Amino acid sequence: MKKYVPSLLVLALLAAGCGKEPTATAPAAAQPAGDIAAGKAVAESKCVSCHGLDGKGTGPDIPNLGGQKVAYLLNALNGYRTGTRQHAALQQLSSELTEADVNNIAAYYASQKAAGAAAAAGVADTVAAGKAAATVCAACHGSDGNSKVPGTPSLAGQHPGYLLSAMQAYKAGSRKDATMSGQVAKLDQVTMENIAAYFAAQTPVERDKSSAGDAKAGEPLSGKCGGCHGQQGHSADEKTPSLAGQDAQYLVKTMKNYRDGGRAHAEMKSMLAGVKDQDLAHVAAFYVAQAPKAAGVAKPTAGQQWAERCDKCHGAAVDNPEMVTPHLEGQPVAYLVKALKDYREGKRVQSAMHAMGAPLSDADIQAIAEYYAGQQPK
Ligand code: HEC
Ligand code: HEC
Ligand code: HEC
Ligand code: HEC
Repeated sequence: MKKYVPSLLVLALLAAGCGKEPTATAPAAAQPAGDIAAGKAVAESKCVSCHGLDGKGTGPDIPNLGGQKVAYLLNALNGYRTGTRQHAALQQLSSELTEADVNNIAAYYASQKAAGAAAAAGVADTVAAGKAAATVCAACHGSDGNSKVPGTPSLAGQHPGYLLSAMQAYKAGSRKDATMSGQVAKLDQVTMENIAAYFAAQTPVERDKSSAGDAKAGEPLSGKCGGCHGQQGHSADEKTPSLAGQDAQYLVKTMKNYRDGGRAHAEMKSMLAGVKDQDLAHVAAFYVAQAPKAAGVAKPTAGQQWAERCDKCHGAAVDNPEMVTPHLEGQPVAYLVKALKDYREGKRVQSAMHAMGAPLSDADIQAIAEYYAGQQPK
């Protein structure tokens, strides 16, 4: 490891309380090497109840400090002290520490062994977690989302955004169906996102093509639907369902519901206003006859795939003692989830991390947290 010699300039900036936001590439503020024994004494009196003497968090939402980088620990403590990082208890505690205490305690915890990987951190994959949660849906929708029950929609290959919004609508009661509202009542956001990821990743197969309509007669009417649902019923929009290869009975029932007010949606209602039952059967037949195609999942589904992006900063480069980027391996799941949500929601401010966190869904965050929690610290 390269020795870091603090320059006068950096020390002067520190003394001036330079509150500039750290970036992954900016060198960490240099400090004189801390006194490990003195740091231990501070840890024993002020930190041990939550971080242990070895730095292992004593609760699921308390980060491990053992083996963390000095530069990062200093940066975090100074963040609490100056208020750029908010946490009532830590802000209070760290305000009671002198500059020397901070230095010493960072040196102490960095010198401790990192906690090991969390046992049973989880499956760390939205699709795999969704598959497990979707077993209760199989009787009606098929284990892979290809339903064989007339009147019940297939879910395989549908947009994850659409599947999620449909589940949320049943849960909120804005979409009414006695069966489905019961099915989703107890599902939380992460579980619904996981299930959506699972069904979206499955390959849709054709349904029974027999229907009361005539596909040729339905084609002209489908002309005004293609702008949203795609010419052949393959939607390119997150919130608009694909119709190709869907069940005829379900399509007809649903279109009647939009037309007659059983399912609320202004655009669909006006689209179908005044359309006769026979024409609905024809347009349904047209979509049933189209080959279904999966919408495709555009973002990583596994924590490990995300980590390939994160490790551009959190991977090997993290060993550079001048960088503030922390080690994530072996941190508790609940702590990582909280940290990522704090970045996403702007409660914890760091421009690089906010940009990374912004597009993450709750389920993505869960999978990433489970992945890193399950990794052995290097
Ligand atoms: C009451 C429990 C408690 C005590 C006591 C406590 N901490 Fe913490 N510590 C936490 C929690 C909870 C967090 C996570 C806060 C957050 O989300 O920002 C944390 C975060 C930290 C972090 C940031 C770690 C990271 O990965 O970002 C550092 C560094 C830290 N504590 C050091 C200390 C030191 C040094 C002491 C003693 C002077 C101390 N803590 C005492 C609960 C505690
Ligand atoms: C007892 C049978 C049954 C079970 C079990 C069931 N569903 Fe359904 N599901 C239906 C029916 C019927 C519909 C059509 C309801 C309507 O007209 O709104 C439906 C509709 C849906 C839709 C809307 C599809 C679309 O194209 O708009 C989604 C999403 C969905 N179900 C997800 C699930 C999930 C997730 C589970 C498991 C947690 C589940 N369902 C369990 C019968 C079932
Ligand atoms: C302006 C865009 C738009 C147009 C044009 C449009 N739709 Fe839709 N359609 C939607 C959206 C958005 C939804 C999802 C609404 C919801 O969440 O209830 C939808 C839902 C549907 C559904 C329900 C599918 C399911 O899986 O539950 C059917 C069936 C449907 N449309 C048929 C049609 C037909 C037939 C036409 C042409 C006559 C048409 N749509 C025109 C936007 C459109
Ligand atoms: C451009 C570099 C960069 C990238 C890419 C990056 N990070 Fe970070 N990350 C940082 C820096 C710098 C910090 C320290 C910020 C601070 O002090 O709040 C950080 C902090 C964190 C923390 C807080 C750790 C703790 O102990 O409190 C978590 C969690 C995290 N990153 C996760 C991720 C994940 C997950 C990804 C990928 C989706 C990612 N990061 C991508 C630079 C990066």
